[in-house]
Amino acid sequence: PLVDEWSGRHEKEQVLRNLLSLQEVHIVPGNSDESVQTQTLLASEAARFIFSKLESRMITAVTGGSTIAKIAEQLPSSSKFQQLQFVAARGGIGKDVQLQANTIASMFAQKLNGSYKTLYIPDTLSESAYEAMKAEPFVQEMMDLYEQMSILVHGIGDATEMARRRNSTAEDLKFLKERQAVSEAFGYYFNAKGEVVHRIRTIGVQLEQLEQTPYIVAVAGGAQKAQALQSYFQQAPRQSVLITDEGAADQLIHH
Ligand code: BG6
Repeated sequence: PLVDEWSGRHEKEQVLRNLLSLQEVHIVPGNSDESVQTQTLLASEAARFIFSKLESRMITAVTGGSTIAKIAEQLPSSSKFQQLQFVAARGGIGKDVQLQANTIASMFAQKLNGSYKTLYIPDTLSESAYEAMKAEPFVQEMMDLYEQMSILVHGIGDATEMARRRNSTAEDLKFLKERQAVSEAFGYYFNAKGEVVHRIRTIGVQLEQLEQTPYIVAVAGGAQKAQALQSYFQQAPRQSVLITDEGAADQLIHH
C-alpha cells in the first residue's frame, strides 16, 4: 500500500504539472486544512527543496504568512553556506509579528547562518507616503536586492481571506469583489484568468522582478486554496516550483 500511495501521488504531480503548466510540482500527503501534520510535511518538503538549491552568497526573498513561517522552523541549522542574505519580500502585514515577512527572513537567516534585511514599514501606504518612501535610500537598497535575488519563497492566499486579514475596508472588499479577485500573492491580487486586478500600495517585490529569478518556490496547501492556486498559476512565472498537498491537488484535479 505504501508503494501505491507513493506512485499515486507521483501521478497526481504529473497531472498538476500539465494542468498548471509547471515543470515541477511536489505533493505531500494529507490536507493542510485539517491536519497540522500535513502542514509540517509541506513545510519540510519546501525546506528541503530550498536547502538543495542554496549556494554561498545567494539572496533569498521570503514573504509572510503561516505557511512560510513553518518552513523556517523546518530548515536545518547549518553553516554550510557563506554569506547568505535573506530579505523580506514586502513590508509588514496585519498584526501578528510571527507571520511577518521581516520575522521570517530573520528566522531563515538564523537557521542558515546568514544575514537579513528587513522592511519595517506598514503593509499599506497612502499615495503620498508611498511616493516619498520610494525615494528613500533604504528602499532603493531593497529594490537592488530584489533585482539580484536567486530564490523567492512565497505563499498564495485566497483573495477575500487575505483582504480580511489585512483589515481591508468594506470599500476595498467591494472593489476586490467587483474585480473578481480570486487569489493573492506577495501583495498582488489576481482574477480567475490570473490577471492582476489590484496591488497593495507597499514597498516590496515587483512582479516584473520575478522574470529573472531562477528559483521561485510557491508553497500553499489545503483544499480551500485550490481555487486560489488555479487562479494564480494561470499566468505565474513558468519557472515556479509548486509545493502543495493532496488536499489542494485533489480539489484542483477534480474540479
Ligand atoms: C504570504 C504571501 O506569504 O502568504 C501572501 O505574501 C499569501 O501573498 C499568504 O497570500 C498566505 O498565507 P498563509 O498564512 O495562508 O500561508
